[in-house]
Amino acid sequence: MDDVPEASLSPTLPGVHKPAPSVRIRGLRAYYGDAERVKGIDLDLNANEVTAIIGPSGCGKSTMIRCINRMHEEIPGARSEGRVVLDDVNLYDPSVDVIAVRRTVGMVFQRPNPFPTMSIFDNVAAGPRLANRRRSDLQAAVRTALEGAGLWQEVADRLSEPATGLSGGQQQRLCIARSLAVDPEVILMDEPCSALDPTASLRIEQLIDELKRRVTIAIVTHNMQQAARVADRTAFMLDGELIEVGPTHHMFTSPSDPRTEDYVTGKFG
Ligand SMILES: Nc1ncnc2c1ncn2[C@@H]1O[C@H](COP(=O)(O)OP(=O)(O)O)[C@@H](O)[C@H]1O
Ligand SMILES: [Mg+2]
Repeated sequence: MDDVPEASLSPTLPGVHKPAPSVRIRGLRAYYGDAERVKGIDLDLNANEVTAIIGPSGCGKSTMIRCINRMHEEIPGARSEGRVVLDDVNLYDPSVDVIAVRRTVGMVFQRPNPFPTMSIFDNVAAGPRLANRRRSDLQAAVRTALEGAGLWQEVADRLSEPATGLSGGQQQRLCIARSLAVDPEVILMDEPCSALDPTASLRIEQLIDELKRRVTIAIVTHNMQQAARVADRTAFMLDGELIEVGPTHHMFTSPSDPRTEDYVTGKFG
């Protein structure tokens, strides 16, 4: 018996999406050994919004978002404290199944990381297969996920070819499709465009804009223009702390904190 409720694995009917959850991060601290690298962050990811996370290299952006789906604790010697509450479920509650957390809160990384030995189809089918989906369901799930990632038309006639034959931008959309195939409610993206050319990056940005209708999104980016284009709200981190969060246009035009202003105007970072 799979201990994940069947409902959370069903493909969502086209056009009928359950509302995405909000994520409330409270008192989050993250450590590598004794080194505290996330120092007590309170941050909300609003439902069906895109929240950009910006800040200089090494300030803890990746560490912070890895705590949201409990990946941080997989690193030897790493631990975290605090709460991450998805609607009303604390993802750090001992009763919560960590595998289910990672399905519900998907993640996309800087370098597209399709399973290199697998076909395009198998990359997307891998998650649903683990949930023992029937073969006919599997085909529908793969198609739906590829459509959701804006990739179906480009790959429909080559599903059995290796994923590694795709361009970088296509591979990144394949990774998004792989995450969509297990019906996530939140997607975390850690600099998803930094290995892509401008055209492929814009395609991902368009996709993010479509995806937020069904999922709640956090995106780490070092590209200010990208944050300005895709994010409803932007959060600025510095040295493991959250300095300021607000509507994106406000963060870029009239931030409250002088450190935010210095960063967004390129004085450091
Ligand atoms: N696996 C790790 N082991 C030890 N320290 C780490 C590890 N990953 C990151 N750090 C440290 O944590 C801090 C934050 O890193 P990171 O979250 O990657 O920052 P960002 O994503 O903002 O560039 C940095 O000082 C970095 O050196
Ligand atoms: Mg990082």
